[in-house]
Amino acid sequence: MNSPMSVRPWSLVVVAAATGLAILAPLSASGQFPLPHAAHFFGHLLTVIMLADLVVRWRASGSFAAYTTRWFLVDLAGALPLGLMTGVPVLEVIRLIKLARVVQTMQDLWSAHIDKWNTFRLVYSAIWIGFLVHWLSCGWMALRAMSPSMDAAGNTYIRSLYWVVTTLATVGYGDIVPRTDVETIYAVLVMLAGVGMFGYVIGNIAHVITNLHPSRVRYIETMEGINAFMEYRGIPAALQHRIRGYYAYRWEKRLGFDESAILNDLSVSLRGEVSLFLKKDVIEKVPFFNGASEELVREISLAMRPAVYMPGDAIFRAGEQGQEMYFIGRGEVEVLGKDGTSVQAVLRDGDFFGEGALVLGQPRSATVRAVGFCDLYALDKAAFEIIIQRHPQFAAHIEAMIKERFGSHR
Ligand code: CMP
Repeated sequence: MNSPMSVRPWSLVVVAAATGLAILAPLSASGQFPLPHAAHFFGHLLTVIMLADLVVRWRASGSFAAYTTRWFLVDLAGALPLGLMTGVPVLEVIRLIKLARVVQTMQDLWSAHIDKWNTFRLVYSAIWIGFLVHWLSCGWMALRAMSPSMDAAGNTYIRSLYWVVTTLATVGYGDIVPRTDVETIYAVLVMLAGVGMFGYVIGNIAHVITNLHPSRVRYIETMEGINAFMEYRGIPAALQHRIRGYYAYRWEKRLGFDESAILNDLSVSLRGEVSLFLKKDVIEKVPFFNGASEELVREISLAMRPAVYMPGDAIFRAGEQGQEMYFIGRGEVEVLGKDGTSVQAVLRDGDFFGEGALVLGQPRSATVRAVGFCDLYALDKAAFEIIIQRHPQFAAHIEAMIKERFGSHR
């Protein structure tokens, strides 16, 4: 749906009003049910809401020309009390076209809350089945009224509802039977609808029961694949344990989503905004970024790639060629001394490391090891160099850091 967010709460009011209409309109269209006073008042209220909706949509589309003909006709048909205006009650049924707006709003809600899709599905199908039963009852009530002498007891809504439910459910007690040709055809149609509805309900419920959250399904599938692979290649049990731990952590923190792949799929401007948002936890923690220009922060956030390390993992070792520098989003790392065991420094959330090799063009000066689980963001050499060239203040900051870290003994 392309209506602005501000229309949302109003859309829900319209959904409620259209639901009222779905109940009331067929009742008055049948012309048989003596509507109480309150129902008349309610009917007028619905008409007012529908008319207001016409105005709201009109204004929301900016101009009348932007209001598509199709939707204008839907809103207009829903707003006019046709039965009352023409004196032909059956014309009220036309107003049900307005239910198209319900479908539209529901689809919108679905896509926004796809995680609650199963609940939606159940509630939504229950509501439509309720509508169907009600409409069929009204139809039967109207048909019965055409031949009243034949069945004295069949003239109320409750009796019609009873007949529709027994027929739809294919129970068919046979105490109320079609007498005229039209009634017989109607009964056949209701039975056919019953068969279809049965399949629909069973299908929906089966789907809800078997369907897990999609990302959980993906996790299970990934783990099955990994387990099979590890077994096939005879990976030692301890290593298997670590690999499972890695996936479990990734699943827990990111639901197993591949952020980079999702970002790459977006348009350029969306990608910038989303990556800023996703990386804002680390951006807020790095003190330097607080004073940096928005452009620099955006550029760095776009280039940063998430990486997860497990307790004890070496992120890199002394002497290796450096291809990346890292920002710590969450976790703790140790910088080890030349001997490979003494701890020279401990870096935490918001710190960065690995800049030395990139700036000085020398091998890694130390081994850096994850203490606990670490959420890092890596910035590769090419992106680092471009950013350094374009943003002298970032270059100066890195330079200062190198001086502070390495002092004169490098
Ligand atoms: P690099 O030389 O690429 O690889 C080792 C990294 O450890 C180095 O970059 C720095 O980021 C970091 N590092 C080295 N010495 C220290 C120190 N004394 N305190 C904090 N970090 C350090």
